[in-house]
Order: sequence, then C-alpha cells, then structure tokens
Amino acid sequence: MRNAGIWGIGSFAEGREITNKEFEKTLDTSDEWIRSRTGIERRVFAHDDVNTSDMAYHAAVEALQTAEVNAEELDLILVATVTPDYPFPSVSALLQERLGAPKAAAMDVSAACAGFIYGMATADQFIKTGTYDKVLVIGVEKLSKITDMTDRNTAVLFGDGAGAVVMGPVEEDKGLLAFDLGSDGSGAMHIRQDPQLIMNGREVFKFAVRQMGESSLKVVEKAGLTKDDVDFLVPHQANIRIMEAARQRLELPVEKMAVTVHKYGNTSSSSIPIALVEELKNGKIKDGDLVVMVGFGSGLVWGAAAVRWGR
Ligand code: UT7
Repeated sequence: MRNAGIWGIGSFAEGREITNKEFEKTLDTSDEWIRSRTGIERRVFAHDDVNTSDMAYHAAVEALQTAEVNAEELDLILVATVTPDYPFPSVSALLQERLGAPKAAAMDVSAACAGFIYGMATADQFIKTGTYDKVLVIGVEKLSKITDMTDRNTAVLFGDGAGAVVMGPVEEDKGLLAFDLGSDGSGAMHIRQDPQLIMNGREVFKFAVRQMGESSLKVVEKAGLTKDDVDFLVPHQANIRIMEAARQRLELPVEKMAVTVHKYGNTSSSSIPIALVEELKNGKIKDGDLVVMVGFGSGLVWGAAAVRWGR
C-alpha cells in the first residue's frame, strides 16, 4: 500500500486582534493571569460577516496553490469543525461549490480539537488504498460565535482560524507513518456546547496533560520509531502548560515545539495546521523531518500523527 503525505498547506487567521487587556475592561481577569495560566497574549476573532466556510476557503486556496493542485482534481474534501456555518449543509459541501471541485465527495468531521488529526487519518485510508489521489483536509473554527463572552473561564481562551492541507500519495518512506486515535466519552460533559461553550477547565487540563504525552509516545512507537527519532512536535495549541508537558514526555528541547498559542489562543481543530504553516515558514520543519502532531478535545477525544515530512 502506498503512503499518504502532505503536498501543500495553507492557513487563515485574520480579523479583529483582541489583546488580553481588552478582556480586563469587561471581565474580572487580568493580562497577567491569562499569560501565566495559558500562555495566551492575544487572539483573532473573525469579522462578523466572515463565517467558518469563508475562513476555510482562504486556507484551502493557499493549500491548493502550494500543492500545485487544481480544485477540479480533488477527490474528497474533509472539513474538521465544531462551528459550521449551518448544522447542515456541511462546510465541505459549501466549499466543494465555492472552490469548484466537481468530482469531490464532501464530508465534515466532528472531533473538536482533535478533528484535524481525525481528518488526516481518514484521508490516509482513502489514499493508502488507492481509492482517492487528492484529498483536501481542513481544520476550521469560528469559536467566537459560540463563546460566552461574559464567562471568564472560557472567553479568554479561544480564537478563530483555519488551516488546510492537500494530501496525496508520497514516496514510500514519507508521509503519515502512523496515527493514534481515541475517545473517552465518560468525560463528554467536560467541554460541551449547550447552547454556548461550557467547560470544566481543570478536568480537561488533567486529561490533556496525560493524554497528549501518552498519545505522542504511542504514535512514535506505532511508526516503529522511538522518541529520539522525533525532530519536531506540533501540539494542539490550547495552553502552553499542557503543550510543555507533551514536549517533556518526548524529551524535546523547547525550540523543537511549535508555539502559536500566544498569538491565536486556542483555535480548536485549526490550531495544528495553523502552527504547521507558521513553523514551515520559519524554516523549523525540513524535508525528511519526523513531525509528531497531537491534539485532544471535547468528546473527550484525542489523536496523534507521525509524519515524515516531504513528498
Ligand atoms: O482544546 C481543549 C479546550 N480546553 C482546554 O484546553 C482547557 C484546559 N484547561 C486549562 O487550560 C486550564 O484549566 C485553565 C486555563 C482553563 C484554567 O487554569 P487553571 O490553572 O487550571 O485554573 P483553575 O481552573 O484551577 O482555576 C483557578 C482560579 C479559579 O478561581 P477559584 O475557584 O480558585 O477562586 C477560577 O475561577 O482561576 C479562576 N479563573 C480566572 N481568573 C482570572 C478562571 N478563569 C479566569 C480568568 N481570569 N480568565
């Protein structure tokens, strides 16, 4: 069976830049508290007239360009989101029309902050088996539309954004070498939308610190490698303290972990691809590097992927 890898990548995180200081005006919080407990300094909220599918569209166009793929060639569009424009139709169907992808199948994936990893693992199955050649995978959220801006426990944490990859067959030793997906519905009530976002932060924190480390190690093992082989870690950007715990489990130096949480906050399913784009632009990820991506979120669910970078 052939390997599936990442051909091109794009992101979008534009809108109103909100600093921690702005929350001091409306909430009983402080820049100091937010920075020290989460690592977040600012986040971006999409403009009111920009919906989830609009952000996804911009990230997708960039990913198609860098992959040198035309939308008409796409076989499948997979959008990971918990904040779609509508409960139905799917964001992926909206994109199929807007991008002009006549032969693409379209479906959304609901796995919260692990959604992008679930999406990549799904794309991998279709590509590996030869069923499809070119799959667009997007993580996108407009969390600002479901966040209760009067709740200090959640309002300061989240942001909006989109990240996209075009996946296709790659050389034998490259691409997605292994993935690890899981769920534990016993913690389902810890982060939920009812009707706005509600979270028991402390419980999620405990779960995340354990799970991010375990899943990162497991995916490397599944790839037949060890933590010494890992060149770069791209964790879900929820909280710098959680990310640090995962980095330490892999015994990686600080410069080998993607950090964008200070700029965008937690953007759920889009945080991993946005961070990937930034670190590629910074020259931190090179051809042949072993990159571990790991995320967790509402479900509770988690997912990790070990990717040998390159085409
Ligand atoms: O993508 C997955 C989504 N979720 C997450 O990643 C969240 C995971 N959890 C976390 O990141 C952390 O638990 C938080 C950042 C949410 C909270 O940090 P913490 O160090 O776990 O704080 P805590 O929950 O233990 O709360 C400490 C105190 C509480 O006050 P009391 O009960 O001790 O009086 C909170 O009410 O901090 C209070 N607090 C705040 N204070 C100032 C909570 N939010 C704020 C705030 N400003 N924004």
